[in-house]
Amino acid sequence: MPATVIVGAQWGDEGKGKIVDLLAQHSDLVCRYQGGPNAGHTIIANGETYKFKHMPSGILWGKECVLGAGCVIDPGVFIEELDDLEGRGISTAPVRVSGNAHLIMPWHVALDRASERRLGKLQIGTTRRGIGPAYADKSARLGIRVQDLFDPKILRQKIEVALAEKNVWLERVYGATPLDLEEVVERSESYAQRLRPYIADTSLLVDRALREVKAVLLEGAQGTLLDLDHGTYPFVTSSNPIAAAAATGIGIGPNRIDRVIGVAKAYVTRVGEGPFPTEIEGPDQERVRELGGEYGTVTGRERRCGWLDLVGLRYAVRLNGITALALTKLDVLSTFAELPVCIRYRLRDGTETDEFPAHQSDFHHCEPIYEVLPGWEEPLDGVEDVAALPEAARGYVEFIERELGVKVCLIGTGAGREHVLSQESLETVLAR
Ligand code: IMP
Repeated sequence: MPATVIVGAQWGDEGKGKIVDLLAQHSDLVCRYQGGPNAGHTIIANGETYKFKHMPSGILWGKECVLGAGCVIDPGVFIEELDDLEGRGISTAPVRVSGNAHLIMPWHVALDRASERRLGKLQIGTTRRGIGPAYADKSARLGIRVQDLFDPKILRQKIEVALAEKNVWLERVYGATPLDLEEVVERSESYAQRLRPYIADTSLLVDRALREVKAVLLEGAQGTLLDLDHGTYPFVTSSNPIAAAAATGIGIGPNRIDRVIGVAKAYVTRVGEGPFPTEIEGPDQERVRELGGEYGTVTGRERRCGWLDLVGLRYAVRLNGITALALTKLDVLSTFAELPVCIRYRLRDGTETDEFPAHQSDFHHCEPIYEVLPGWEEPLDGVEDVAALPEAARGYVEFIERELGVKVCLIGTGAGREHVLSQESLETVLAR
């Protein structure tokens, strides 16, 4: 059994957590390869709701869970998550964290907030979790890594060096309150003992698992269009959610990845600023938001809602090498008589394209061209297999498959774990 990447095919919040949760039961390891507590997974299992920021969803099945080197970790948030799980009777013993992952320090959070405030109308709309500043320091080689927590001398020295500079920024550039060295050092040291049992050489661990023919899920956070290199820059996150980054983020060769499952909502949502061609105008946007419960897991912000965009999805298929799609939240569309689906963009010069524009200004000004598909106007609650879906709902799925040339292997029809229809057995989905 080989490695499968689960990747968001839109702007995040596609319901990856739920798909990973479902596939995790047939896997041995579940690994996060990038991002941090900007991600939010909601999983409803056995009548209980779990909200994860750092934790791979596989933890609910007791699977070995890995946070790879490509992640940024806020130790306070992570420890809260560990405590919460333990408090609810779920063992966190199978969790492993790479010592190479970078830490989100208090100044990263403070700088993220201050910078967004200062940008005002031009803000990115970040989750204000310190993600951008943490990855920026990593690239500038000023970052503090998880392994630094275990060497008090180095830890203090690095905090001292960083704070000397960050406090100047906070105070002089942003007019924000500076941070106290002793307080930050003390807080950071207090994390070390709690985190020590979880630290491992995760690259080696995943490589060994693959050699032992174990099934490994590599779970992306955020989504393709938020990718730092290929997304809708600058309205993106500061890491690479796309599938190829799973190899670098974990520390395995790209040839170890065997399949890529893209997760897409049956419509589209976006949080934060930035262009969004299929954003719905008028009361239907609010209707989709209410029906889909489209409020951010991390920030509680209203998500912007749009009709399905096949130009964006085609791009995601290309960038990630998606071998199969999981389509989530099909039930949310059940009350609409007609369902517009964007099949092409019209650019400013009047030309039409079904490929994602390579230049930002084309994307910012493009207009969606819709094909209107019939709705099914009946609930999907009791539907237990794909064949029992209303004809128009099946037609909607088949239209996507035809347009993209990719099979939809899983279809989400409700909030619970059991509300995912599979075109084939889950073992087959993983073994394709
Ligand atoms: P950051 O990742 O907090 O820096 O935010 C950058 C952009 O990515 C903002 O538009 C956020 O709303 C968006 N973003 C970050 N994480 C997620 C996520 O998990 N789901 C959806 N959007 C996200």
